[in-house]
Amino acid sequence: MRVLIHIDEADTWRDALAERLPAAEIVTSEALAHQRRDIDYLAAWKPPEALLRELPDLKGIINLGAGVDALLNNPGLPKDVPIVKLRDAGMAELIGDYVRYGVLHFQRDFDRYRRQQSSKEWREHAVDDKADWPVGVLGLGAIGAKVAGMLVADGFPVHGWSRSPKQFDGITCHHGDNGLSELLDQVRTLVLLLPGTPETRHIIDSETLAALPEGASLINPGRGTLIDEAALLEALGKGETEGRLRGALLDAFAEEPLPRDNPLWAHPRVWVTPHMAGPTPLKEAVGQVAELIEAFEAGETLETVDPSAGY
Ligand SMILES: NC(=O)c1ccc[n+]([C@@H]2O[C@H](COP(=O)([O-])OP(=O)(O)OC[C@H]3O[C@@H](n4cnc5c(N)ncnc54)[C@H](OP(=O)(O)O)[C@@H]3O)[C@@H](O)[C@H]2O)c1
Repeated sequence: MRVLIHIDEADTWRDALAERLPAAEIVTSEALAHQRRDIDYLAAWKPPEALLRELPDLKGIINLGAGVDALLNNPGLPKDVPIVKLRDAGMAELIGDYVRYGVLHFQRDFDRYRRQQSSKEWREHAVDDKADWPVGVLGLGAIGAKVAGMLVADGFPVHGWSRSPKQFDGITCHHGDNGLSELLDQVRTLVLLLPGTPETRHIIDSETLAALPEGASLINPGRGTLIDEAALLEALGKGETEGRLRGALLDAFAEEPLPRDNPLWAHPRVWVTPHMAGPTPLKEAVGQVAELIEAFEAGETLETVDPSAGY
């Protein structure tokens, strides 16, 4: 069995996977620049179009991340090869920390204290109880459900939203269009952990932003395409004049790297991070890749990506 790896630092991935699957031949796309026949599995993050077109014998593709939008939008993607993606693989814990940091940032007024510091203003704000700070999590998949659970464990009331109905202990679950409007007007911080699909594009627009309570905050470790940036800027207000939205912590953008002239960089109520919320941890990911390949080989039914749904 031959497995081709395409990702940054592919040699490290190759060595780790070779240890886990000693009977397989593991090669990197760089080492195997030609003769790419007889490759059974491609384990890749954002493979180039040409590479996808050069692999006629593939039995499966393993996406080395949770988001499959880039892969599904690649014109070289073969139509009939099953795709699986990493599910959590340690990313949920990292994204959970990012989200908890963001929720506490707003709930404990760190945004206000930063502004006060710039004018050397010593003024304490009363603390809002966590119990009075409902958080909404859009997307209850492998990552969203775990992050929502971490927030519940911290003492925040949590509302979650997904496409299909879900049940999780301690989380008020909503689904479908009605479910989204039920959730929006109840939450003080909204967290986006939806995949980037045609259906979720600009789900955060002027209408959804207007449905949030005055002074709500937004955290987006999901995908940049979820947000209509012009509507977001409008909701944040200009300069010192606060809009309906109190602030936003953003990790994903429609265009990455975020262009230097994008107004989000300099906005006083926006915190920009460079898509760092949930890097793929090598050890967990390699273990999961090996299990997925073993399951493919054993003919097991796998939870595959649905290209028509986009995730
Ligand atoms: N910033 C980072 O570093 C980073 C790292 C990893 C992942 N991510 C992002 O996080 C996203 C979520 O990852 P995941 O592994 O949790 O994904 P996932 O397991 O595929 O779950 C996606 C969730 O979104 C829901 N959903 C999809 N389309 C919907 C729609 N139209 N309306 C309502 N709900 C919808 C799904 O509903 P159902 O449950 O009903 O199917 C599911 O609950 C990824 O797609 C990626 O964009 C970011």
